[in-house]
Amino acid sequence: DPTLREVAEPTGRFIGTAINDGLLSNSTYRNIAATEFDSVTAENVMKWDTVEPQRGQFNWSGADRLVQFAQQNDQLVYGHTLVWHSQMPGWLQNGSFSNSEFRTIMTDHVTTQVSRYRGQVQRWDVVNEAFNEDGTFRQSKFYQQLGSSYIADAFRAARAADPNAKLFINDYNTETANAKSDGLYRLVRDLKAQGVPIDGVGFQNHLIVGQVNGSAIQQNLKRFADLGLEVVITELDIRMRTPADSTKLQQQARDYRAVADACLAVSACSGITVWGISDRDSWVPDVFPGEGAACPWDDNYRPKPAYEALRAAF
Ligand code: XIL
Repeated sequence: DPTLREVAEPTGRFIGTAINDGLLSNSTYRNIAATEFDSVTAENVMKWDTVEPQRGQFNWSGADRLVQFAQQNDQLVYGHTLVWHSQMPGWLQNGSFSNSEFRTIMTDHVTTQVSRYRGQVQRWDVVNEAFNEDGTFRQSKFYQQLGSSYIADAFRAARAADPNAKLFINDYNTETANAKSDGLYRLVRDLKAQGVPIDGVGFQNHLIVGQVNGSAIQQNLKRFADLGLEVVITELDIRMRTPADSTKLQQQARDYRAVADACLAVSACSGITVWGISDRDSWVPDVFPGEGAACPWDDNYRPKPAYEALRAAF
């Protein structure tokens, strides 16, 4: 049977996965990651707390491993993420800085990381999760110190560091039209109007089995695409109450198919990344107690109906 990347490549879309750095030494994991996907996202090792654990001290070991893996396997790299309220190092989260010093810390971080991988990372999540559920700006440290201007400044720093990388803003619960996605829509429309260098919007798609509305997702992708932006499904997983059973797994397959169909129906939707390979390695059970089985491969790295549905979509 053809792999996911073999069926996706002729459509011009990429199919990616989040890579857990600690699992690259597992040959089963590594083989699936290499053969099934043509794009990789670092699940954690490109986040600020990993990359700059102490101010001015950089740790690129995991990020370099990811980029090397991608080059070995002829894969794109989706950079995740530069400016985010979560997984910030303690010195940054708890430190006391003037607004101008804080702005410089942020833009220096963006410049340093994007420059290091210039030409090797094709897309960056420059800003992640900037919104509250009601569509107002999240009161992150970035927002508290700099107001919403931090967003434009982060994008400008990223563009200057790698003019060829495509720059994204990424969020969750923005997959369909709602207060949060409306807030995101207004922001990216205004950024475009102001000439801020933004190229795309990432939609995480951490979804729930039986609650996926494919046509609503398609319509929402389309309205962002109509602003002249690329759109990407960046972190797809579809969770259920565990344990799984065949009814739930069949519904999950239909839900995966609906998300893939939504992307494929929108020409500006350039790819789909799933947030992990096997259910055993997924972040879901740690964060949503009693839920899981959200990935395309099961606990034993066997492909699930969701895997077959994804492949059939291309
Ligand atoms: C998650 C990782 O999967 C976990 O390993 C980590 O402990 C926490 O972060 N939105 C994002 C991702 O943008 O970076 C998150 O990844 C999942 C939610």
